[in-house]
Amino acid sequence: MSTPTLDQARPHMAALTDALTRAGALRTPVWSRAFSSVPRHLFVPRWFDQERNERGIAVWREHHGTTTADGLAAAYRDKTLVTALDPDTAERVDETAWTGVPTSSSTLPGLMAGMLEDLGVGDGHQVLEIGTGTGYNAALLCHRLGERLVCSVDIDPALVGAARDRLAAAGFAPRLVSGDGTRGNVTGDRFDRIIATCSVPAVPGAWIEQSRPGTVLVADIALGVEGGLVRLEVDEQGRALGHFTTTGGRFMPARAQARTYAVPRRPRPAAQTGVRPSQVTAADVRAHYAFRLVLAFHLPGAEIVHHLDDAGTMALQIQGPDRSWARTPLAGEGTGTVTHGGDPGLWARVEEAWQWWNGAGRPSHDRFGYAREADGAARVWYIPDGTRWSLT
Ligand SMILES: C[S@@+](CC[C@H](N)C(=O)[O-])C[C@H]1O[C@@H](n2cnc3c(N)ncnc32)[C@H](O)[C@@H]1O
Repeated sequence: MSTPTLDQARPHMAALTDALTRAGALRTPVWSRAFSSVPRHLFVPRWFDQERNERGIAVWREHHGTTTADGLAAAYRDKTLVTALDPDTAERVDETAWTGVPTSSSTLPGLMAGMLEDLGVGDGHQVLEIGTGTGYNAALLCHRLGERLVCSVDIDPALVGAARDRLAAAGFAPRLVSGDGTRGNVTGDRFDRIIATCSVPAVPGAWIEQSRPGTVLVADIALGVEGGLVRLEVDEQGRALGHFTTTGGRFMPARAQARTYAVPRRPRPAAQTGVRPSQVTAADVRAHYAFRLVLAFHLPGAEIVHHLDDAGTMALQIQGPDRSWARTPLAGEGTGTVTHGGDPGLWARVEEAWQWWNGAGRPSHDRFGYAREADGAARVWYIPDGTRWSLT
């Protein structure tokens, strides 16, 4: 099969649109029309699927998909397709496989559909996208609004160049900008809607500068331990207020360099100070997304890592913003205990968060509000009773 024609792709586009509608991600005819009209395969001629190779190593296997019937169908599955790997960490393991950290992808269509619906785009709205990637989402926006109203920014100029060509092949020429979409006023313009397809730890001031009163922002806020999608509206005072959305999904983090992620510098861990029984297990933390979000509110600046000790025991570890840590095994002997170093209060705050979340009836993530004040301070609150946490 040579390059597929639009007629060959049309049944796949229709099937994807039907699946996203049945799943509740597509909720309005305008976005259904966009998904059934914009050919995703033009934007993902090549991608990487994660698999374990014969040595048991997780690798990214390269596919040049759309020249075969199976490849064309794969481009229309509701699946994230990784399209670029950080060249500083990617190592070739065989002819067509690499290890490494993804730096770009075509987002899960169901997630994209949910976010575009949440954005509440109206006719005539000017939209800014942060994270052009393949250009597929920019093409969906162009279909909905017309290319004149769409601007998309990506930090990697090579991705922007490729996206420009693919958008042209799909019949669109939106404004594309290379640059760090989290810093400075990269567009010099103001927008009615801003959608980010890379995560940020907090809403950047740059997005407020490119907003007007009434501008809606949809983005993934990465709070350390966990994060989530928020829908915020900018007010006259330059505050952005809203809530975590029912649409669930996470994005790769925004980075400051075009092609690679900076290596995180973590402080040397404190020496072990104790072991004690724990009211929270690793399974509790791993099983409940909404609890991890609440935990992130209780422990701003902390993160979750996995720790493998010399005996081969894998543990879930909370890493404090200082040198403190606390860990509990994923399974086996030691389940129900916590080992800690540095501040012994670190795990006590995990238990506090667990008690709070259970006491509130285990609310889901969309029961929480999020605000960025005009001075950049951020806070979250439980919508039913106003219990609040400062994230700053
Ligand atoms: C999940 S991909 C975007 C998917 C894209 N919207 C699509 O439809 O294919 C995330 C993108 O964010 C870009 N990115 C990362 N950090 C960025 C930054 N600081 N400013 C702008 N773009 C950034 C990455 O290069 C990557 O292409």
